[in-house]
Amino acid sequence: MRAVQIVDLTGPESALAEADIPEPEPSHPLTPGSGVVVEVHAAGVSFPEVLQTRGEYQIKPDLPFVPGSEVAGTVRSAPEGSSLSEGDRVAACCMLGAFADVAVAPDFLTFPLSDELDYAQGAGLILNYHTAYFSLTHRGRLEEGQTVLVHGAAGGVGTATLQIAKGLGARTIAVVSSDDKERVAREAGADEGVRSDGAWKDEAKELSGGGIDIVIDPVGGDRFTDSLRSLREGGRVVVVGFTGGSIPEVRVNRLLLNNTEVIGAGWGAFVMGKPGINREIGDAVNRLVDEGFVRPIVGERFALERAADALKVIDERRATGKVVLELGD
Ligand SMILES: NC(=O)c1ccc[n+]([C@@H]2O[C@H](COP(=O)([O-])OP(=O)(O)OC[C@H]3O[C@@H](n4cnc5c(N)ncnc54)[C@H](OP(=O)(O)O)[C@@H]3O)[C@@H](O)[C@H]2O)c1
Repeated sequence: MRAVQIVDLTGPESALAEADIPEPEPSHPLTPGSGVVVEVHAAGVSFPEVLQTRGEYQIKPDLPFVPGSEVAGTVRSAPEGSSLSEGDRVAACCMLGAFADVAVAPDFLTFPLSDELDYAQGAGLILNYHTAYFSLTHRGRLEEGQTVLVHGAAGGVGTATLQIAKGLGARTIAVVSSDDKERVAREAGADEGVRSDGAWKDEAKELSGGGIDIVIDPVGGDRFTDSLRSLREGGRVVVVGFTGGSIPEVRVNRLLLNNTEVIGAGWGAFVMGKPGINREIGDAVNRLVDEGFVRPIVGERFALERAADALKVIDERRATGKVVLELGD
């Protein structure tokens, strides 16, 4: 089958190479001896793949390896006892191996793909939307009517968070770095847009009528202290990622003074090996698809052989919405 591999750790420009490799066995490392084999129509591209081309991601497979953590496609075969059958349209989290014609995912991380979504949208469904749902509900304890501020709001996690938050009845404020990104965030359901290089903290406090209930932060870096300052009493900052490059440090007296919380949200670490939670999140996200709230925003689309260009879009901070590789119809 066709595949793109990471062959060295020299960065997105040069670390990838096309390869013709054998199709994978129906077995996934998380469920040895069992796995859903998926004919890949679209593969999602995310920040971790960029990090992997430099050896900077926590998962460091031996070289060469096929990167890519999520796909949308059709089921070729499913393990005994699975609710899936051959030919079903699915979105699946395979962890690695998505940049190829065929990928294998655990049954508990493979979900029916609604006819409302095309394959490119399906390839942006799991990592971002499951993370967004998990961060807002399981970790952030979102309640209807609360105000959610989203950093990196035009990005993959950001747009997903805005859509899910709207679907769950929240008011949303997007923090973005440009007009173009504000447009994307508003299309994803942002009620308000504020600028990351402006007085966003004061604006957010004013727009929310006194303070934010939940900050979803995939960016980190310098703005973290202002995120804490933007909260109302009882508000929480949910830590999702560090695209800003640096891991913030908190002076914890701030939490005490204002009765606020900082909460970590590591979707992958939490749900791996928890089939029940995955089903629950998958059902909730699919319900929000049916209700029209979840519509993954696809940014740039590339053919498989242009995977390096796809990674560069993310590396150079040009991505709006989900970057995907398209492999079939
Ligand atoms: N915790 C979890 O379970 C989990 C799950 C999935 C992803 N993540 C993490 O969440 C983060 C966001 O992922 P994503 O897919 O949303 O990324 P993305 O689509 O590239 O968006 C990230 C956003 O971060 C902002 N940003 C600020 N400083 C940046 C910088 N120096 N370089 C690049 N972007 C910068 C950008 O928005 P502005 O230009 O508007 O500032 C950009 O739109 C990543 O760190 C990823 O690893 C975590």
